[in-house]
Amino acid sequence: MNKRIAVVPGDGIGREVIAEALKVVRASAAPLEFTEFDWSADRYLRDGTTIPPDGFTMLERDFQAILVGALGDPRVPSNLHAKEILLGMRFKMDLYANVRPVRLLEKSLCPLKDARPEDVNFTIIRENTEGMYMDIGGVFKQGTPDEVAVQEDINTRKGVERVIRYAFDYARGRQRKKVLMTDKSNVMTYAGGLWQRVFKEVAGDFPHIEAQHMYVDALCLAMVREPRQFEVIVTNNMFGDIITDLAAALQGGLGMAASGNIHPGRTSMFEPVHGSAPALAGKNIANPMGAIQTAAMMLGHLGLQQYADRLDAAVLAALRLGVRTSDIAGKMGTREVGDWIAERVATKGTNI
Ligand code: NAD
Ligand code: IPM
Ligand code: MN
Repeated sequence: MNKRIAVVPGDGIGREVIAEALKVVRASAAPLEFTEFDWSADRYLRDGTTIPPDGFTMLERDFQAILVGALGDPRVPSNLHAKEILLGMRFKMDLYANVRPVRLLEKSLCPLKDARPEDVNFTIIRENTEGMYMDIGGVFKQGTPDEVAVQEDINTRKGVERVIRYAFDYARGRQRKKVLMTDKSNVMTYAGGLWQRVFKEVAGDFPHIEAQHMYVDALCLAMVREPRQFEVIVTNNMFGDIITDLAAALQGGLGMAASGNIHPGRTSMFEPVHGSAPALAGKNIANPMGAIQTAAMMLGHLGLQQYADRLDAAVLAALRLGVRTSDIAGKMGTREVGDWIAERVATKGTNI
């Protein structure tokens, strides 16, 4: 039976890259059926809808996975629709593990001197439902010279434990030997203290996996200097957001980075790491490979790994043969790269 996928192309280049990802998945003949939703800045500006009131319940009830492009539009400076749709799915559907693989597919994509694919191959697991993203805080004496702004960082025992456990399970399931937790516990002692204690406790349940720690500033240096040392990194929401853009640079830029927002056993959501890139929108220049790899991740998650492998093989072939957009030193357009990869998927199986 076909698996049902909800598709939210969203704004800007999100729509363009999702069109290519769908083209490629269809070419693979994976047993999926897609239903598109127009939740976006356009829809919000037209009738005030961000996501309908029963939206999350409907997604959970009627779909096995969700594929999202990107949300964000200069015409909505408050970013309200993006918060309600994207962060809404993450928070209200409790998709607590944001899984962001960092893989260098081809040497020429990496800005680091002499780095090879085996040097950049790790996964960042970002806590996705709490931290500084909860928008809890307030202002006092706003607009006066004495203004005060408070932004809280929420860390629950339950939230911290489940994402750390997810990271260890993820490592064990993929024959990885190390999990590194990164924080700023030398300064943020309360939240950091909780993360440190829980990390040690959970690590005790996984004696065959080495548990490591680095402060997040030192980690940024190490990711650039010696990315080879990393296997699985787990961290909070905000640090995870920041270090995954840095990590994307090691893979060839935001156009190459994929992610999944996961709650095991529930409807999960998959999206490229990049945003709607308003300056690129409508020009047929955005790189669709991050979105195509995101679709591959979704297929793997749905137990359709053989189709995911075909997508991955075709992306690799495209890179090797110079079928690329301009952000990764190519000359082709979004649609042309998508067409080529779709054709390859349809004809070549997993042959690279
Ligand atoms: P962005 O990811 O849209 O762009 C950052 C840089 O990367 C830009 O230089 C852009 O041109 C480049 N880039 C991104 N994706 C690319 C691709 N596929 N191909 C080639 N180049 C690519 O981030 P931003 O500029 O900070 O944000 C723009 C809007 O997107 C904002 O409204 C922001 O809130 C939103 N945003 C949404 C998501 C999401 O929906 N998941 C993620 C990040 C940003
Ligand atoms: C990401 C994005 C989002 C985040 C924004 C658009 C809210 O940057 O998915 O990395 O901060 O999580
Ligand atoms: Mn981000």
